[in-house]
Order: sequence, then structure tokens, then C-alpha cells
Amino acid sequence: MIRVLEQERTFHLVTAHTSMVLHAMPSGHLVSLYWGGRIEDDAFSRIAKDMKKASYLSGTDGIRDFRLEQYPVLYPSWGNPDLRKPAFQFSYEDGSQMTDLRFFGYRQYQGKKKLEGLPTVLHDNAECLELILKDSLTGVKVTLTFGVFEAWDAITQSVRVTNGNHGDIQIQRLMSGCFSFLDDQFDAISLNGAWARECHENRQKIRQGSFCVESLRGASGHGQNPFLALAEPGAEEDKGNVWAMNLVYSGSFEASVEVDMHQNTRFMMGIQSFSFSWGLKKGESFVSPEVVMIHSGEGLGAMSRSFHRLYRDCLLQGAYAGRTGRKRPILINNWEATYFDFDKKKLLELADEAVKLGMECFVLDDGWFGKRNSDENSLGDWTENREKLGGSLLELAEEIRRRGLSFGLWFEPEMVSPDSDLYRSHPEWAIQVPGRSPQLARNQLVLDISCKEVQDYIIESVDRILKTVPVSYVKWDMNRNITEWNSCFLQRDQQKELGHRYILGLYRILEELTGRYKDVLFEGCAGGGGRFDPGMLFYMPQIWTSDDTDAVERLDIQFGTSYVYPPVAMGCHVSACPNHMTERLTPLFTRGLVAMQGNLGYELDLTSLGEEEKKEIHRQTEFYKQIREIIWYGELYRLKKEGNERAFLYLSEDGSRGVVSFVQILAKANTVPKRLKLKGLDPKAFYRVERVGEDKSMVVHGSFLMNLGLDLDRPKGDFQGQQWLLSREEKPYACHTGE
Ligand code: GLA
Repeated sequence: MIRVLEQERTFHLVTAHTSMVLHAMPSGHLVSLYWGGRIEDDAFSRIAKDMKKASYLSGTDGIRDFRLEQYPVLYPSWGNPDLRKPAFQFSYEDGSQMTDLRFFGYRQYQGKKKLEGLPTVLHDNAECLELILKDSLTGVKVTLTFGVFEAWDAITQSVRVTNGNHGDIQIQRLMSGCFSFLDDQFDAISLNGAWARECHENRQKIRQGSFCVESLRGASGHGQNPFLALAEPGAEEDKGNVWAMNLVYSGSFEASVEVDMHQNTRFMMGIQSFSFSWGLKKGESFVSPEVVMIHSGEGLGAMSRSFHRLYRDCLLQGAYAGRTGRKRPILINNWEATYFDFDKKKLLELADEAVKLGMECFVLDDGWFGKRNSDENSLGDWTENREKLGGSLLELAEEIRRRGLSFGLWFEPEMVSPDSDLYRSHPEWAIQVPGRSPQLARNQLVLDISCKEVQDYIIESVDRILKTVPVSYVKWDMNRNITEWNSCFLQRDQQKELGHRYILGLYRILEELTGRYKDVLFEGCAGGGGRFDPGMLFYMPQIWTSDDTDAVERLDIQFGTSYVYPPVAMGCHVSACPNHMTERLTPLFTRGLVAMQGNLGYELDLTSLGEEEKKEIHRQTEFYKQIREIIWYGELYRLKKEGNERAFLYLSEDGSRGVVSFVQILAKANTVPKRLKLKGLDPKAFYRVERVGEDKSMVVHGSFLMNLGLDLDRPKGDFQGQQWLLSREEKPYACHTGE
């Protein structure tokens, strides 16, 4: 709901549990008055008047006491008396760099529209508020568009800049969202890591000065996710205030927090500024990507559940989105089973086993095209290698489909190998600086998809395969970041547009292909989770979470990823033992349990397994088929996320079914079994609790499970998992609390 107080020029954005209050001061400066738990009243005007006045700050508009720097300016500019870091900066033809934005008007409407060329959080039930600001000297107009997703407890913001009639301007910085708090008692929580170690929670106290999470890689990146939250120092999984931002964008980004001289905090997020600039001619407009802002008064758990609901309902698109959408298949992927070393016989043997073990889609990973038998060549040449495949790709796909599996295929369309026909005919299509030898990563270069001709080549190459081969799943990979930032297709003064143009080009390609192939499930991948962001999720409702398939490593990677992204979006596979990356030996039961926290798949040589292992995998796929809708559409409760134990509970939307999983990482001598307290249950209901893998069940009261907890066994050996199925009993039996 959006409540507009015309007289006071105050805008109250209300969601189920939160309020955000914005205000246009008499001077026309917009300020953020409040963001937090929902306030029922609208009496905010005194807050703006009461702001304390510090010394040694410039006055504003000739009023000595009006010290803008002391105010929580909503969308601050540079060059005026607020000397903190601005949210945007434009440079003008006369060389000046100052913009003085004042409130000009507002517009309110129902329904959230798609931003042109950009992924967007959408719903007809969302309400929008546009706050229009203008600079009277240059005529530049800046429109802040807020989307209020009341039922989802989320607010989105994007920014549109429209040039006036005074000449060309250069946008040098443009944050998508900015919010200021009159307080500095916060911890910053970000998701950091590296390749194969994505999305680990990183929490630190902020102090006077700046804290920044950013990527200059041309992708959101493995090292940092476009997510940043501020939390009250005592805020934890289930308590305390948390304010989070997540950018719906897949390129270089920045998120920053500045604590100023007077203990105020400015929090913003947008496209990375150092590597960005954008020219706007008279009358032209530019739209920033969108930032999602979520406040939770009940800790990180509730924050995550709001993100999950919002993304499930309003971000994921296409046939596989939503409860009524198509069911995602259990995959068998040949990558860790064969790497590049396969032939038709091997693939079909794998497929035969996969069918027997309950899998549903066979994914042919890297190595099926050009002359690719290693990562040294052929990216860009998307023609099947008939010799290696023992016939055409179509024949292989049909043989796989005849066995009862759907067929999936790997592509890495944004890349080119120097040893490829594509590169030999179009070296200028690669991003590189003429005269310098290009730096290779994984023996490849990045195609310059800021150029429409290159975009069209990619669309055409992928389309050619999808048109002729019955592919129902595409893994869209991207295995290196951009260096030698330079485009042969852009003018000198446009070179800093390359990063954003690349992402716009990527979005156009994806819009086109996902539009043409609506029934294909696209899974994003960038060497694992190197581009796990809402921008990619808009086009690809599933992303390969990490190349690290070690179950123990995956516990934290998936937990961190689940801070923001719903489990239905995470690709999670069971792989071989010892693990190819860590050499760790982990029980197959635990590997299955961990991979069931998202979209289950298998990525190991099924033909080399013993009978016991096959039996266990068959049990896992059968069990997952029973529970997958709870994982996909239910609510996630992280029960234990530190120390030697991890535990998580998924509850179905109506709360009637649940799955509890527990892993003890290392075995400990001389310990006694403890109990595991559950969350989110109905304290007045009875639940049947069935221990997975054992023929044991009991009926226990919800209040008991949440306050006293579930019995845990004392695990023998490292990396042991335990799992339970919960179902609410409509007609309770007598309450049994013990074995
Ligand atoms: C990347 C992906 C892997 C696999 C390989 C193939 O590393 O993350 O899953 O597809 O490429 O080359």
C-alpha cells in the first residue's frame, strides 16, 4: 500500500510487516525518514523537523542552519552541501559536474511493469510510486521508481535519468537504491568467497568510514554476491532487525555503506561506478537496474523467506516458474562422470543406469561440439562432433529419450577459443585491445556481446541446435571474466559503456532464446555460482550453485546462497567419492541429503557403482520425488548453521508436511546425543515424525518439537546425516515423546 500525505509531501510505503517513509522537504530535497517495522500511524513530519544540527557544515540555500549533510538525503548528488558519497554523478558539456535535484512531483499506479531490456521483479498486485526530481539549470530529470510488494514484504527501486535540452551529459555514477539511517550501530553482512567456495556469510561491524562489496569482473562474480545487509548487532537467524539490498543485475556492481562524522549511515547499491559511464544525448533516457530492499524484524531467517517468496512468485519466469509450472527433473550430468572423455557407448550406458535409478533428464555437458576434447579449443563453433558422438546429436538425443529420459545440453555461448573457426573468421568479435596479446583464462576469450551482430550470431547458433534437437534443458555456462576492457565497436568516449552494454546484450540474447523456447529449462552457470544473481534468475530459473560438489563444503555454500535465493533456484548434485576437488570421503546418504536441499541431480559414473550404492541412490530419487515440492515451494528454516553441526527444515506452504535434515561434520568422542529444536511448526498441532531410512515413526506435538526438540542419534564417523519426514496429523493420537 502507498499512503501519500499530500500536504506534508510524505510518502508512506507499507508492506505486510514493514514501512518505508520518504519525504520532500520545503527546500525540495528528498529525505528518507524511516525504514523498518510497520508503523500504522502517518505522523512523520516532526522527524524531519527534529534533525539535530551539527557544526562546521555548510548551510543550504542561504540558510545557515539548514545543513543538508546532516539529513538522510534519499538520492544524494555531488557538489552541494552534502559532502558524503553521492548516489549519482553526471558531467555536463561545460565540464561542470554538479546536479541539484529538487522534488518536482510524483505519480502512483497499480502493477509493476518490466524495465525495458532489464530483468525485473514483476506482479500485477504490486503498487508503484514515482518520485520525480529535476535540476532547474540543466533540465535533467531523475525519476525514482519504487515498487511496493505488500504481501511479500519487499520494496524495489530503480532510477531513470532523462536528459534535458541543454546538451549531452555523461552519467558517471548511478546507484539504483540509496537509503540513509540516522544511526551507525550495524553489522554488514555480505556473501563472499571464491570459485568453488561461493557465498560464505561474512559479518563485520561497520565504523566511521566506508565499507564496500563490489565486482569489477563484468559479472557479479564468485568473490562477492550483489547482496548486502545491515543488521543490528544482536540480530541473528531468528531475531533482530535486518535491512537488505540485492541488485537485479549480472554485471559489475557495488554496494557500499558509509558511516559519516555524525554517526549516520548511508547504504547504497548499483552498477559499479569505476568501470562505468554512459553518454546521454538531449532528450535521451537511461534506466538503472533494479534493487530489491527487504527489511526483517525477525532476523535473517525471515529476511531469507521474504526473498524466497518474492523471487519464486515475482522474479522467476517461464514454464518452470511457480507452483503450477512444470516439474524440474532429477538430472544425470556426465561432467564429473567422464569430463571430456566420452563416446556414445559410454553416454548410453550412463543413461541406462540413470533410468534404472530414477533420474529424469540426461545432461550432456562440455565436449560435444567442434573438435573439443579438452578446454583448449572450439568454443564458438557450435556444431556437433559427429565422430565423437558416433552419429548426430539428434540421434543421440533420440536414443536417450527412447530410454525415458529427457535430453539436456551444455553451451558456453558468450565465449570463443582462439583455436576456433569463429575466432579465425572474426578476431574482432573478442574483447581485446588491438596490439596487445590477449590474456587467456581457461584458454578462452570473451565475445563482445555489446555488438548486435555478435548477439545475433549467438542467438542463431543456439537456436540452430534447439530447433533441430529435442533439448528440454540447457546449461548456459560462462567460464571467465573480462580483461582488456575494449570494444572494437564502440567509440573512444563509449568504452566505459562496454560492461553495461555487455549485460544488456546478454539479456537481449536470453530474452530472445527463452522466449522462443519457453518449455526449455535453462540453468545458469558461471564456473558454478560466479553469476548467481537475480538478473540471471529472471531468465534462468535455476543456477548451478558451485563447481564444488563436496557435500561438506556444499553445506555452507548452499546455506549462504539460501540467504537470498530460493532453494528451487539451486542446482545441487551428488558426486563421486572421494570427491574430485577435496578428496573427502562422505557417506552417500549425506551426499544425497545435502543435494536434496535444492534441485537434486547426480554427476558421477553410475556404471562404476556397487549394488548397495545403486540401491541407496534409487532410494534417494524415490524419496526426493515425494518431498521435492516441499523443497521448491515451502519455507526454509535454518536450524543450525555454525560449529560442527548443520540442520535445516523445509515446511510445505500449508505447514502440513516437512523435511528435517541434520549433519554432524566431525565425529566427537565421549559426547551424548542432543536434541534438535524445530521452528515454524504449529505449536497446537500433532506431527507424525518418520526417520528416513528406518522403519520408525512417532507422533509428537508441535510445541514439543519446537521447545524440546527431536531426538538425535549420536553419529558414528565423520559427516553423518540424519533426516526426518514430518506430516501433520489431523486426528492426533496420544502424544508419544520418546522412542
Ligand atoms: C564449468 C562448469 C562445470 C562444467 C565445466 C565444463 O566449469 O561449472 O559444471 O560444465 O565448465 O567445461
